[in-house]
Amino acid sequence: MILQARNIVKRYPGVLALDRVDLDVTAGEIVAVVGENGAGKSTLMRILAGDVAPDEGRLLVDGEAIRFGSPRDAIDAGVVLIHQELSLADNLDVGANILLGREPRTGPFLRRAEATTRATAALRAAGLDLEPSRSVADLGMGTRQLVEIAKALSTEARMLIMDEPTSSLTAAEADLLFETIERLRDEGTAIVYISHRLGEIERLADRVVVLRDGRFVRSFERAEVTRERLVESMVGRDLDADAGLRADVVLPPGPPRLEIRGLRTTRHPAHAVDLKIRSGEIIALAGLVGAGRTELLRAIFGIDPRASGEILVDGEPTRIRQPSDAARAGIALVPEDRKADGLLLDESIAENLVLPGLARTATGGILRRRPAERGLAETLLGRMGVRPAIPDLPAGGLSGGNQQKVAVGRWVGCEPNVFLLDEPTRGVDVGAKAEIHALLDRIARSGAAVIAASSEMEELLAVSDRVVVMHEGRIAGELTRHEATESAIMRLATGGVGSGDVRRSETAS
Ligand SMILES: Nc1ncnc2c1ncn2[C@@H]1O[C@H](COP(=O)(O)OP(=O)(O)OP(=O)(O)O)[C@@H](O)[C@H]1O
Ligand SMILES: [Mg+2]
Repeated sequence: MILQARNIVKRYPGVLALDRVDLDVTAGEIVAVVGENGAGKSTLMRILAGDVAPDEGRLLVDGEAIRFGSPRDAIDAGVVLIHQELSLADNLDVGANILLGREPRTGPFLRRAEATTRATAALRAAGLDLEPSRSVADLGMGTRQLVEIAKALSTEARMLIMDEPTSSLTAAEADLLFETIERLRDEGTAIVYISHRLGEIERLADRVVVLRDGRFVRSFERAEVTRERLVESMVGRDLDADAGLRADVVLPPGPPRLEIRGLRTTRHPAHAVDLKIRSGEIIALAGLVGAGRTELLRAIFGIDPRASGEILVDGEPTRIRQPSDAARAGIALVPEDRKADGLLLDESIAENLVLPGLARTATGGILRRRPAERGLAETLLGRMGVRPAIPDLPAGGLSGGNQQKVAVGRWVGCEPNVFLLDEPTRGVDVGAKAEIHALLDRIARSGAAVIAASSEMEELLAVSDRVVVMHEGRIAGELTRHEATESAIMRLATGGVGSGDVRRSETAS
């Protein structure tokens, strides 16, 4: 037994995040921890890793009671947590991030060659072919996640905790990660694995522990694991699959709601993108990390400058130089990285929810009508199923999935004509995922054009009328709902070659 947690209790204002939870982790096993958003998974992991102190209960390492005063203490005991929200320093290169605080030194001097060797070895162990001298700022989310894993591996962890490690990886990258995880397990490392993607749990877990509302519900041995059983014990009920959500959709004639002509992003200036999307239509943007989906959405929204190209809304050429131009044209964007671009974590949930709609509730642009804002915030909280639904709570106090619901919900009140979403269900549990899919469906049916970039095959297939697949900055092909199968999407996404070539180092998506 590497680590035992006994009777762990953690309270936050208004919430009992963990209520007398036990967890045992043994060398050479993969323990999955599952549960709905807010169930207490991340809190428990942060306690195991010395990031948060429990209010009650104790930890034992190798049978000895231990108290972690900081993550440093946990790392010294061999327990390393890879956070749900990534935490690499953008101003340092990859190698410096990996060895941060543990650089090989002679006196004050860095032993550079040794540092490079160690960082390179860690990167290889994480399955990543990347120079340690690369700048972190240039990396996409998928690559950053793998660097985080390399960083953890470089500490020679005996127990590795991964909190939703695949939420921004593509299927092929995730496969690579799974191979790494299974290899580490076979070498005797204990892995605690958190994910909302039940297919991953089925593949990886030797044992599954289910939490609900801060309590241990039950655990399953590998042979007992089925998707239905997991869902049932997580949510306490059966869920309707949302396949078929768009089956009855007939798009109206008329000019497209959004038309993009000859758009070149500065990252992929060699390829012009043309795209038309009708009122009421949902397009899923598929592609591997680095395919240019995020750049395309950012360019449409005016965050990144365009090298060339025209954007038409309802047939009218529209000048979009900055996000406020896009907002004025009725375009909304839910970004990929909610922490960096989306939410203000120190501000209240209510404040976050009404920010984009302020223009509507403001009087004369100066006075804010607080009661109207309050009403809007409460309506949105209810509609999005945010838990806990406390408008005054800082957004940073919400669980990851609930933060995502706020990041999407804040735009819903604005009733956009064009709704762009980058990985809208990242980190969202099965129930909330279905809620967000239903919400996209409703937004489209009310007349908006929706473009959602997603790395999740199931999502691409469930919620779209058309799948547009990108590869290296261009549109590699388009599939109707009927043509879109996992293998057809993969074939286009990899440029027609085998999926093995995602092993190449990738840059931002
Ligand atoms: N720093 C904090 N301040 C206040 N409340 C918090 C804080 N961190 C967590 N909570 C609350 O504790 C509960 C458990 O949150 P936790 O983040 O552990 O959930 P989770 O199972 O990881 O969810 P998700 O799947 O959404 O990541 C939630 O109700 C959350 O709002
Ligand atoms: Mg979490």
